[in-house]
Amino acid sequence: MIYLPTCHSTNDIAAEIVHAGLFSEGTIVITDDQLSGRGQRGTKWVANPGENLTFSIILAPQFLEIDNQFLISQTIALGIRSYVASYLAETQVKWPNDIQVNGKKICGILIENSIQGANLKSSIVGIGLNVNQLSFENSFATSLSTETEEAFVLSDEFQKLARHIDAYYLRLRSRKQDKELRDEYLNNLYGYSNDVKFSYQERIYSGRVSAVSKQGKLSVRLSTGEEIADLGLKEIVWIKS
Ligand code: BTN
Repeated sequence: MIYLPTCHSTNDIAAEIVHAGLFSEGTIVITDDQLSGRGQRGTKWVANPGENLTFSIILAPQFLEIDNQFLISQTIALGIRSYVASYLAETQVKWPNDIQVNGKKICGILIENSIQGANLKSSIVGIGLNVNQLSFENSFATSLSTETEEAFVLSDEFQKLARHIDAYYLRLRSRKQDKELRDEYLNNLYGYSNDVKFSYQERIYSGRVSAVSKQGKLSVRLSTGEEIADLGLKEIVWIKS
């Protein structure tokens, strides 16, 4: 574990370690104060210093074919979800891999893979979990403290979270539970069991998730019965309510 009181981005530090070939699987870069946190789709990840868990795990999933790489996202999201659900049972995964509670985001995940031949070589799993922070610029963000009205010891929560992620990663590494992991992901997905709103090609629709492909593409069944299949990350925007 590499602890940095402050740094630009733990994912960037982890990438430097990977490029230098200095890592062993499970190396973690963790900081109290991330100055240039990166989010999905080129966004910024901002978190109050010292109040949250901000870290990156370096994995070496060389057992996983490129075609199956979305399983990493699903596995990590499920591990984090099960940790958050130990406090807040209604926690869901929002496709592709946000963790949300009562419609509000509690954790963001940024996964950056490198490949070698037909398989993955390394995977940098960046996690920003809102723990003790109580106020957010974004009204659709929340934290463990906001939801439970308790204060948490960050090091204790890190250990618990790491155990949940580890248990799920070991299931993936066994290569015997791909189907179970995919099914569990679907069953815990926002919009799988009930209709939700989203925008697609500048129109607003209501419908529910009908499938997530091996490659991580999303299919939705509209409330009118029609299906929109194989959507990529940038093609659909969930409408928060
Ligand atoms: C998102 O939801 O947009 C993903 C956010 C990921 C944030 C984490 S914080 C630790 C790691 N380092 C980064 O620069 N980003 C990830």
